[in-house]
Amino acid sequence: MSGFGRILYGGDYNPDQWLDQPDVLKEDIRLMKLASVNVVSLGIFAWAALEPSEGRYEFDWLDQTIERLHGAGISINLATPSGAKPNWMGLKYPEVRRVDKVGHRDPQKGRHNHCWTSPVYREKVWEINRKLSERYGKHPAVILWHLSNEYGGYCYCDLCFDAFRAWLKNRYQTIDALNKAYWAAFWSHTFGSFDEITTIDDSVNGLQLDWQRFSSDRCVDFIKHETAAIRAGGSILPVVTNMMGYYTELDYWEQAPVLDYVSHDSYPWWHRELPDAAIGADTSFIYDLFRSLKAGKPWLLMESTPSNVNWAEVSRPKRPGLLRLQSLQAVAHGATSVMYFQWRKGRGGMEKFHGAVVDHTGNEHNRVFREAAQVGAELATIPQVADARTNPEVAVVYDWNVRWAIDNARSIRNVSKDYLPTCFSFYLPLWSRGVAADIINSLQDFSKYRLVIAPMLYLLRPGVAERLHTFVEAGGTLICTYETGLVNDTDLVFTTGFPGPLRDLFGIWVEETDAPIDATIQNVQVSSGNELGLSGSYKVKHYADILHLEGAESLGSFTDEWYAGSPALTKNKYGTGTTYYVASRNDDRFQDDFIGGVLAQIGITGLLGSKLPTGVTAASRTEEGVKYIFVMNFNNNVETVVLPDGLRSLDGAPSATPITLPAYGCEILVQE
Ligand code: GLA
Ligand code: ZN
Repeated sequence: MSGFGRILYGGDYNPDQWLDQPDVLKEDIRLMKLASVNVVSLGIFAWAALEPSEGRYEFDWLDQTIERLHGAGISINLATPSGAKPNWMGLKYPEVRRVDKVGHRDPQKGRHNHCWTSPVYREKVWEINRKLSERYGKHPAVILWHLSNEYGGYCYCDLCFDAFRAWLKNRYQTIDALNKAYWAAFWSHTFGSFDEITTIDDSVNGLQLDWQRFSSDRCVDFIKHETAAIRAGGSILPVVTNMMGYYTELDYWEQAPVLDYVSHDSYPWWHRELPDAAIGADTSFIYDLFRSLKAGKPWLLMESTPSNVNWAEVSRPKRPGLLRLQSLQAVAHGATSVMYFQWRKGRGGMEKFHGAVVDHTGNEHNRVFREAAQVGAELATIPQVADARTNPEVAVVYDWNVRWAIDNARSIRNVSKDYLPTCFSFYLPLWSRGVAADIINSLQDFSKYRLVIAPMLYLLRPGVAERLHTFVEAGGTLICTYETGLVNDTDLVFTTGFPGPLRDLFGIWVEETDAPIDATIQNVQVSSGNELGLSGSYKVKHYADILHLEGAESLGSFTDEWYAGSPALTKNKYGTGTTYYVASRNDDRFQDDFIGGVLAQIGITGLLGSKLPTGVTAASRTEEGVKYIFVMNFNNNVETVVLPDGLRSLDGAPSATPITLPAYGCEILVQE
């Protein structure tokens, strides 16, 4: 069993803020039971309560809390407290505080701002983690370790730079090799020795990229350190840390292998400028990424809010029904938990107005609590879904290394490069058809998919070009776009013509790229009777490659500018597979028609067969031959959905068709 055999339901619990109010702590248990809470993440920011002064540990309050929870049958996801360091530590040992890019050391304040290299910090973390593990690691209520909190950011202190130089030395061996890899002669940046690397210079792109990789690696190293301390204390329980979607600074693909579970903190911006359906699709994209990070193993929704957040420009409470929908959405996309930040609102501090299950009034008599309790009760009825898997036939590539390199580069376009939105624009047509997709990086196994979509694959990491050839040769279908195959792994440009080592795979050569501005008129006119069923002309913005056919077939061409008539969409046969090259950034109608056309060509249909109403999607998980299909309506209005034959509801009754979904409704159906 890779999950927990049930859907975990609960959230961050911070009793250390309420130790002087035992009645509140008692009341928590009553309310948790009422809400069907079965797990809490405990003590995330409790270091000051656990070690009030250096070397003086106080565990009584935690002993009592754990016993209270255990007595109520509530499991514990016990935190290591490294997310926030106590004042005594930050003041006594300046080295534990981070240094920013211009060399300023942080004052002792806030959180998430410790140095991952500092030997003092590592020692303090080791001690507290080991002690927690010794004391609670075998307690029957404790099921999981919550490592720290939202690891993030970079530290530029001397200790980190020493580690960086050692990392570079290990990677390049000689300074000559590094200089070559970085094209360091540019602006006279040739390094005489590794010791001359003392800052991150944006004019040396290779260095920038390696710093991003190194910092990801530092985090991984720190995760290993925290885990080793837990193991040294005797606990063998799984470790997890809460991540932040497609957070820019750390490559989560590096972290996933050293964690037993991955988890995500989800805060979609519902009820704002974009339609909720767009937010819903974006949220699904992230959830699919988290399902993919450990090859389909159930992941944890570690945080979400039952109502509002307090850090957005504007955050509206959720409309009735949306809490249930967003919770089931996570489950539909592979989560084995639905958890909140946080259980109870504090009275003071920066997050006093952040949503929580228990409001300041401290009772169950309000809408948020009622809805949360209903969600808890419902999740308790579907344990069979907790371990179920999804095995998509489609993957969309979203790669942190590619993102960094694109963002670092200065090129024909330094605004609206939009790597992430472009990946998402190829995912949306899948989402709206209920076609499952994994979100992978370019180092993952392509062979388990039938269709791989790798938009803007600007940087080719080692082996990727070869593996894409193998994938297509064996019958796979590959879609790439403009801004593909420009640089190698150290950000050096390919000199063999774009898309670099993928040129023969696509049967094209990209000679130039235009960067159409808003006033530019440019369209793609598709060839009539094209096999993808594309029709008419589609608007182009931002990028347009001017390319030559070298064996590929053109399915459409540009209408304007000096390259009018040149191919804008090409198809190439390679081995037994097919590649498509989309030479320009096209409008939404193109994205939908094109992906729809390719899916039809290779015979991939959505979960419910036909196209779904706008804003409605379907996702599924399968366990022992039974498929659980979640049909979700992200619109604030009723929608009618036509179902294929043979579906039944969870209680076994045959499902009628069409079904009616209320605003933000979700229906779970079963197919055997
Ligand atoms: C993050 C943190 C939590 C809390 C929430 C508020 O996810 O992990 O501690 O600050 O944000 O939304
Ligand atoms: Zn540091």
